[in-house]
Formats: sequence, structure tokens, C-alpha cells
Amino acid sequence: MTEVNNEIRLQAEEIVRVKAALSPEKLDAMSPEEMRQTIYELRVHQVELEIQNGELSTAQGELSAVRALAGANKLLAQQIEERKRIEEALQVERNKFKSILEAMPDGVYIVNQQYDIEYTNPVVEKEFGPVKGRKCYEYLHDRMEICPWCKNQEVFSGKSVQWEWHSSKNDKTYDRIDTPLFNTCGTISKLQIFYDITKRKHAEKELREYEKQLRNLSFQLLTAQETERGRIARELHDELGGALAVLKLRVSFIEKNLQLDQTMISEECKQTLQYIDQIINNVHRLSRDLSPSILEDIGLTPSLKWQIDNFVGHYGIKVVTNIENIDHLLPKDDQIMIYRTFQEALTNIGKHAQAKNIAVTVRTGDDRVSFLVEDDGRGFDVEGLSAKKLSEKGMGLASMKERAKMLGGSLHLWSEKGKGTQITFSIPITKVERL
Ligand SMILES: Nc1ncnc2c1ncn2[C@@H]1O[C@H](COP(=O)(O)OP(=O)(O)O)[C@@H](O)[C@H]1O
Ligand SMILES: [Mg+2]
Repeated sequence: MTEVNNEIRLQAEEIVRVKAALSPEKLDAMSPEEMRQTIYELRVHQVELEIQNGELSTAQGELSAVRALAGANKLLAQQIEERKRIEEALQVERNKFKSILEAMPDGVYIVNQQYDIEYTNPVVEKEFGPVKGRKCYEYLHDRMEICPWCKNQEVFSGKSVQWEWHSSKNDKTYDRIDTPLFNTCGTISKLQIFYDITKRKHAEKELREYEKQLRNLSFQLLTAQETERGRIARELHDELGGALAVLKLRVSFIEKNLQLDQTMISEECKQTLQYIDQIINNVHRLSRDLSPSILEDIGLTPSLKWQIDNFVGHYGIKVVTNIENIDHLLPKDDQIMIYRTFQEALTNIGKHAQAKNIAVTVRTGDDRVSFLVEDDGRGFDVEGLSAKKLSEKGMGLASMKERAKMLGGSLHLWSEKGKGTQITFSIPITKVERL
């Protein structure tokens, strides 16, 4: 290209030289042949210039393409640099992540969608041994095919699943979290975390066992208490009541056989008889409170109404009742427990509430009998009471709850200082229907 350019340049210089030597006289003196030759050379020169011009603009185009390429190259290099930096940062994060997994006290492993184990932390290997290229169902479950309980579908659709797993391989129970792990290449793996809860499970089982024993014990205790109360009530009623009746007879015999002038002793006898009547009434009341024979006599629903009437009469509290008949729904043993629960609720209102109004509701639903006793008294701090030590609190509320549980139901207590107290409890009718 440079050689051609030089040649063109030489020719052009030659022509200019010739042209510069041409004067009008010389032109006139030129023969037509010389003239044609000059014009021809000028045209050739013009064409040469055009060619040169074309080549120059091509070269210019090539040059700007090269420049653009160099720019693109620079950008690419920057991008590569940036990517390298990101990858290095990613690797640092990965290393951190891995060292966290390695240091975790819980077992961790990662499995891909083909059930291949991609990673296990030392805890997993310690519990289940080395993976040796096995699929997860082979490694963890000694199975030849996918486990029916596998959580892959949920996890690979993006959800985390928490579940409990008992390993027949080591007889341990684990709390497991299976969660999706989004890889940089766009695939999803499953990250699983095992937390050994075997000890907790054993403790829970033992606790349930103790609870059962405790419930059994309180049942026996309450039953024994009821039997003992019955015995004392009978003795009070029969022995003491009988003795008082005899005493009354004797005093009235003495009174009848007094001389007319023994007015003072006669008056004393009359007062003694009145006093004995009072004692007899008290003994009857005591005996009735101890063992509510009234239940036998008139049934549960009227007994509850009688209990409430007695209570409001004694404390001068206003009462609203809405009590459905439930006698036909409850066996005798359950009736006494309901009666006792009401007794305790009313005693507490009398002892602690300073209430002006109470409301008592007994309602039957499709599958439950519900009871509600509410007062507008001074209320109390329920949380504060439950936080107290056993030795510092009474047994009334606890025994109410216990009775409700023994009946297969539950008791709920609501109270707020200055607002009053509500006690609700309900018993399933399935229990009641075993009559
Ligand atoms: N209806 C009520 N109104 C106000 N306080 C109550 C009521 N029922 C229970 N309480 C409070 O709850 C505490 C515990 O009651 P309870 O277990 O029956 O034991 P006790 O009656 O022997 O104190 C009572 O000491 C009292 O402070
Ligand atoms: Mg009490």
C-alpha cells in the first residue's frame, strides 16, 4: 500500500512539474497530441487521487473499527476483573458458610435433586458414618428406593419443612429442617439440619408418665377425700345428731318434770333446748357440706340452685341464674365433682371477691355441658398466682382444674383486679354419654 502511494506521489509531482512548466504560450504551442496526452495524464491522476481517497477512507473505517474494538476489549477486561473480584468474594462467603456448617453442633447435609449427597458436616458423618457415594435414602435410611416421606417436592418448590424423624439406624429422634438452597448455577439443592431431641423426647415421655400417675393419684385422693367426708358426715349426722336428739329429749323431760316454782331452771331448760336445736342445725349443715346427701335426695340441678340460694342468702349478693337441667346427662360420680367445683367457686367469691353481683350459667351444647360462674368483685392477678410456690397458695383453684380434667374437660379462669372473676369449665358429652 505504501509503495503504491509513493508511486502515485511521484507521478503527481511529475505532472505538477510539467504543468508548472506550461505557460499559455507553451499551451498554444502544444500540439493536439501533446494536449491529449496531458489531459489523459491529468485524468489518470484524478482517478489515482480518487482511488487513493477511497483507500484512505477504508483505512479510516478500519482504524475506527480497531478503536471500537480496543474500547470493547477494555470494557471486557474490566468486566472480567469485576467478575473475578465477585467470585473471590463469593468464595470467601462460601468458606465462611462452610466453616459455620462444620462448627455446628447439629448435623447438616446437602443433597441435590438426584438424591446425591453433596455435603455432610462432621456431625452427620459421626452419627451415620462416611457417605461413600451413596444416595441419601441409602445412606440415612438403608433403603433401595426413595423414601415415601421424602420432603423433596415441597423443598424443591421453595418451601422449608420442619418435621420430626426417628432413625431406626441409631434409635435417635431428630427435629429436622429441610430447606431449599439456591445454587449460583441456577439449580436448587436441599439443605437439611438435624437437631438431636432424643433426650427431650425421653423426658417428655417420662413427664407424660408422671402426669398420668399424678392424675391417678389425685383421682384417688379426691375419691378417698370424698369417702372420708361421707364417713364423717354420717357420723356427725347419725352419732352426734342422734346424741343431740337424745339430749334434747332428756332436757325436755327434765323441763316437763320441774316443780311449778322452779321457773329459773325451767327457763334455763328452754334456752338449752333452743341451743341444742341450733347445734342440731349446725351439725346438719356441716354434715350436708361434708357430703352432699342432697344430691341423692333431689338431684344435681336442684342441688346447685339450692347451693346458690343458700350462698346469696348468707352473703346478701344479687344473683342471675340460667341453669339448664343436666341431671340426666351425668353419672353420679361426676355429679359430685360438679357440685364440689361450684361449692369451691362460691366459697372463693364469699371469701375473697367482695362482689355485689354474681351470675351462674349451666348450658348444654351438642357435645358439651358448659358452666360459667362470674362475679363483679375485686378480682386478682391470675399470672401472679400461678407464679407463686405451691406452698404459698391454696388448693381450691387447683382442685377445681383437676376435677374438670378428671371429667375429661377443662377449666378456664379469667380475672382482673377491680373487674371481677370468671370461671368457665366444660365437659364433653361423650364422657357424659357413657351413662
Ligand atoms: N372469685 C375470686 N375473687 C377474688 N379473688 C379470688 C377469687 N377466687 C380466687 N381468688 C384468689 O385466688 C387465690 C387462690 O384461691 P384458692 O386456690 O381457692 O385458695 P384459697 O381460697 O384457699 O386462698 C385466693 O387466695 C384469692 O386471692
Ligand atoms: Mg378457695
